[in-house]
Amino acid sequence: MQGIAVFPQGLENEGAQELAMLGASSVHPLKRCASFEADMACLYRLHLQARLPFRLLREIARFQCNSPDSLYREVQQAFVWDRWLHPSISFRVDVSGRCDGLTHTHFTALQVKNALVDLQREFWGRRSDVNLESPDICLHLHLSNAGSVLSLDGSGGSLHRRGYRAAVGIAPLKENLAAGLIRLTGWDGSVPLVDPLCGSGTYLIEAASLALGLAPGSRRSFLLEGWADFDQDLWEAEKERSLRRAKPGKHLERIIGCEMNCEIAQQAKRNVLVAGLEKRVIIQNTHFRELLLPSTPGVMVCNPPYGKRIGREEDLDMLYEELGDFVKKNASGWQLWVLSGNQNLTRSLRMKSSRKIPVSNGGIDCRWLKYEIH
Ligand SMILES: C[S@@+](CC[C@H](N)C(=O)[O-])C[C@H]1O[C@@H](n2cnc3c(N)ncnc32)[C@H](O)[C@@H]1O
Repeated sequence: MQGIAVFPQGLENEGAQELAMLGASSVHPLKRCASFEADMACLYRLHLQARLPFRLLREIARFQCNSPDSLYREVQQAFVWDRWLHPSISFRVDVSGRCDGLTHTHFTALQVKNALVDLQREFWGRRSDVNLESPDICLHLHLSNAGSVLSLDGSGGSLHRRGYRAAVGIAPLKENLAAGLIRLTGWDGSVPLVDPLCGSGTYLIEAASLALGLAPGSRRSFLLEGWADFDQDLWEAEKERSLRRAKPGKHLERIIGCEMNCEIAQQAKRNVLVAGLEKRVIIQNTHFRELLLPSTPGVMVCNPPYGKRIGREEDLDMLYEELGDFVKKNASGWQLWVLSGNQNLTRSLRMKSSRKIPVSNGGIDCRWLKYEIH
């Protein structure tokens, strides 16, 4: 089958590599997504094991449409709806893109819904409910003049929700973005990892899970488990495979997070516990200046506040300056990676980055900056 994996902007290449590593073929990175081919086992595996996608879409039809009427007709003919969409099943329609004659995503979603419920009424005399929050089936229509694609969304809710983060700190990073940024550092557990501004602990939890090969999807359910062609045996086999792939006993160097706010540090500890990583990740409730770094150089990662969501820019200058001073004094031989959405503030680190990778953090244009500390 053909599929699309949706990624945070800037992580398309990393995301594509991950898909290929998990067995997907013909993987092509595109803007904010990658196209791929997979068999059903591989699609299940991607849902269980891929860390970077927001969503995985399974293509079910491709057609040309350039008006509400042609969309209505094409949708009705697109798929074996009598097998897949019984009126007892609720559904939702998501729409992205645009094409001539269909430029309003909300209206387009309603038109797809109308096509489907009219068909159901003809067939069964009744129709499905639409459920925007937790549908049984989630359809995705991507409009384009070159051909529109109708897909099933295997998860419904975004895949960044792993199930360990009930508690959120201030402006937490999405788990899939954190995982992608950690992948870009190349950290593999053989040197210490420190987040001096750890918030809810997302980098550290994602890093430890990555290094131990823990499946990000092992703690949650997926809409694909309710699909008409769901293969329970194959699903169980892939779940077992993901368990076998994990190396929970692997030695990892120390992983330390530091959070000044007491309540947020408590949340981080709870998240670490729910993720089953309490023996791997240590959270300290202090100002980072109190932090005693491991003597072996390692990797430091952080996303300091950058004034767009939290904190006033003038108050934050000092924080960046202090962070720069701290690493220069205490972290000789370490690498520092900073996610920044504000160039003026990063200047206050008074350091020169050796790499600048553009990424989008929830729509904010950011840079993943690498510094070598001498
Ligand atoms: C943008 S948040 C980090 C979010 C984190 N990456 C996550 O995913 O939850 C920045 C965090 O730094 C903490 N912080 C600010 N100044 C600090 C300091 N001097 N020492 C330690 N933590 C600090 C804030 O309380 C906040 O939780």
